[in-house]
Amino acid sequence: MKYIPKLSRYENIEYERCGRSGLKLPPISLGLWYNFGHVDVFENARETIFTAFDNGITHFDLANNYGPPPGSAEENFGRILRDDLVGFRDEIVISTKAGWDMWLGPYGDFGSRKYMIASLDQSLTRLGVDYVDIFYHHRPDPQTPLEETMGALDYIVRSGKALYVGISNYPSEITAEAVGILEDLGTPCLVHQPKYNLLNRQSEKTGLFDLLQERGIGCVAFSVLNGGLLTDKYLNGIPDGSRASIPGHWLKKLLDEETKTKIEKLNDHAAKRGQTLAQMAIAWVLRQDGVTTALCGASHPNQVHDNLVALDNKNFSEKELKKIDMILGDTELL
Ligand SMILES: NC(=O)c1ccc[n+]([C@@H]2O[C@H](COP(=O)([O-])OP(=O)(O)OC[C@H]3O[C@@H](n4cnc5c(N)ncnc54)[C@H](OP(=O)(O)O)[C@@H]3O)[C@@H](O)[C@H]2O)c1
Repeated sequence: MKYIPKLSRYENIEYERCGRSGLKLPPISLGLWYNFGHVDVFENARETIFTAFDNGITHFDLANNYGPPPGSAEENFGRILRDDLVGFRDEIVISTKAGWDMWLGPYGDFGSRKYMIASLDQSLTRLGVDYVDIFYHHRPDPQTPLEETMGALDYIVRSGKALYVGISNYPSEITAEAVGILEDLGTPCLVHQPKYNLLNRQSEKTGLFDLLQERGIGCVAFSVLNGGLLTDKYLNGIPDGSRASIPGHWLKKLLDEETKTKIEKLNDHAAKRGQTLAQMAIAWVLRQDGVTTALCGASHPNQVHDNLVALDNKNFSEKELKKIDMILGDTELL
């Protein structure tokens, strides 16, 4: 059936400026790391993207290696853009990345100029677009000079292959250096993409958020639900079809007794706020100054609907926040 985006799609959502830039992002963005590859059910992926777009989620986050197989999430998203979203490209922010291993040999990984530019060219072909809105370096490269990687990002913007650039998984010290190099080159760093959720508060502890705010850089917080652990789905074991049920998946190892206890207590606390655990986890990330958008994954359109309800209650009292810190054992943050 032909998809016609809902006319009401911008009525119930407020956009946030990404750092000191002209670009606004929705409070919740959709990530295509899992559930959008060739191994997944295409119709479900398509419906999930439509549900997001119909509700004002304009930002779709990809990387060269998302799938599986690697590259297939970009191919599927490109197919949906071409077949269903013709005429809507200018309402959509597409981000992609390079930095993890993508092809064999010495030129398909990390942060050389050769890898970054070739990878983006491949991504543009898979997506079937002339440019992406945001291109990220996916992780720091300890061996390539930072000047070379940032120089590649600068070239990418100047060549029109991306409108903005960002960095992901960069610790605070290297972020400061990278941002300075980009500033000197005349291509500002738009955004940082760190992992941040109730079970992973490194970015708070290392001062990353303070740095980003000082330098006028936006923040796309990823794995806000910790891959699904911060939802009600694992409260009674590991359900079939969930990410942790994938044989050998690392998520299962994270589900130890201590984490289960925290999740149960967080779930009770969420219920007192009238939210699901997923909704509270998203609202909690958005309460952090400097976070522009909560980047969530979804394996079904219903999860997108459920997560959007988080926006109805984003406020936390001091007492509630202290209670959460205590549940998490993060009392040093008090
Ligand atoms: N820059 C980086 O290095 C990096 C790394 C990781 C991720 N990311 C980005 O961040 C995005 C999100 O990461 P993620 O997939 O790990 O994130 P997540 O948002 O923490 O977890 C998503 C998973 O949580 C479950 N879920 C979502 N909503 C739910 C709900 N309402 N109720 C119950 N379960 C729900 C689903 O699990 P099931 O699939 O089991 O149903 C879903 O696949 C990625 O797609 C990617 O774009 C970036």
